[in-house]
Order: sequence, then structure tokens, then C-alpha cells
Amino acid sequence: MDASLLSVEKIVAGYGKMDILHGVSLHVRAGEVVSIIGPNGAGKSTVFKTIMGYLTPRQGRVCFDGADITGLRPDQVMRRGLSYVPQGRIVFPLMTVLENLEMGAYTERNRARFRATLERVYELFPILAERRHQKAGTLSGGEQQMLAIGRALMVSPKLLLLDEPSLGLAPRFVTMVFETVKRLRALGLTLVIVEQNAVRALEVADRGYVLELGRNRFEDTGHRLLTNPEVKRLYLGG
Ligand SMILES: Nc1ncnc2c1ncn2[C@@H]1O[C@H](COP(=O)(O)OP(=O)(O)O)[C@@H](O)[C@H]1O
Ligand SMILES: [Mg+2]
Repeated sequence: MDASLLSVEKIVAGYGKMDILHGVSLHVRAGEVVSIIGPNGAGKSTVFKTIMGYLTPRQGRVCFDGADITGLRPDQVMRRGLSYVPQGRIVFPLMTVLENLEMGAYTERNRARFRATLERVYELFPILAERRHQKAGTLSGGEQQMLAIGRALMVSPKLLLLDEPSLGLAPRFVTMVFETVKRLRALGLTLVIVEQNAVRALEVADRGYVLELGRNRFEDTGHRLLTNPEVKRLYLGG
């Protein structure tokens, strides 16, 4: 074992008979923000689905907080302190903000702990407190993304996976997403972010990975990736 909170070791995974990931590895230390970038279809979301247990790798393993979690179900993975915001701001549109947050806390049976966590999420996103009785489907895109993040925080995770949190959002909400990342990090949360907005994602990251065609391509500090000429040319639009 190494000092990583999360380690993904040479995973091979895919859909049906087709392999999408051909031996991807990642290491995340406690307290880090790690960004994963790479072209569409590189397998970034597939990495997250494999970490969370929605897909079982054909080879390799996933370790979290000192234990091998390869092959566990998503609810088991979540109980160990990993949480996930899927791509696409998925909220339950006909449920209220509060009901959405309650859904996020379905593994929490202790009422006092639930209240405390809810208060922390409301502190982080005051707009969610204001709109707690409003249906989620009536929120703006940016507010829905805050709700999706808030819901993932309801299990009080040690590590949060954010899949394309800024995709399709108006500029001020894009800024808000990256501000949120910084605030969560300041609270001691470990974060792994997949982003199309590669420059912003590397700016907030301690380290980053570039994936391409289901393989590791580059791995370095966020700063060095931002200034690497080849990375700039290939992935950061010159
Ligand atoms: N549910 C699925 N069934 C079959 N193929 C899929 C599925 N989800 C993704 N893929 C394929 O896996 C590849 C990687 O997808 P994905 O992990 O979503 O990439 P990224 O998030 O980097 O854009 C793509 O070729 C995509 O078409
Ligand atoms: Mg994706």
C-alpha cells in the first residue's frame, strides 16, 4: 500500500465485450485536488463509474482509504466515504430541493447527523436553503449543479468525484463551480474533477492527469501541465 487515499491501479474496463479503459492508473492523496482532462470519449466518465462500482473492472484494482474496494456495489463504496456527482447535473426535477438532499442522505439513519450535514450544505450553498421547498426542476442550470453537488455531500464523503461540473453552465456559474471546488478543498475534502474546461480545472488542481483513448497520457502538477508545450498544443487549445 502507498500513502494514497484513492488509488486506481491499471484498470481495464468497458461496456459489454468492449474494453474502453486499457490499464488506467491514478493516485490521489488526502487533501489533494486532482483534475482529469482529455478529449471526448477518452474514458474519463468510465473511470469514475469504475471507481464508484457501477462498472466492475476486468483487470486491475481500486483501493480507497486502505482497503481494496474493487467490485463493491455503489452503495457500499459510498458508505466508505466516496461520493460522486455524475455528468449532466442529474437532479429529481419534481422533488423539492430539500427532498433531493434527503435522497442524497439515504444511507444516513441518524437524524441529528442528517440535520448537521444539511446545515453544512446550506451554509455552503445559501441559495439551496432559500429554495428548499422549490421543485428542483425550476432551478437554473447553475443552481441545479449546486444541488447535485450538495446532494453528493450529504453522505459526508472524504473524497468527491465531480464529472464535468461546469459543462453547459453560464460563465458566472462556471466561476462559481471552481470557487466551490476551492472552498471544499479548504474544508479538507479531497476532490477529483473531470473537466472539459481544462485550463480552469488545472488551475485549481494540485495535480492532473491527461487521458486519451483509455490510457494515461500525461501526469504532473497542475502548473506544469498548464505550461507543458505538448499538453498546451494538444489539449489546451494552443
Ligand atoms: N453505457 C455505455 N455503453 C457503451 N459504450 C459506452 C457507454 N458509455 C460510454 N461508452 C463509450 O465509452 C467511451 C468512453 O466514454 P466516456 O467514459 O463517457 O468518455 P469521456 O467521459 O472521456 O468523454 C466512448 O467511446 C463511449 O462511446
Ligand atoms: Mg464524460
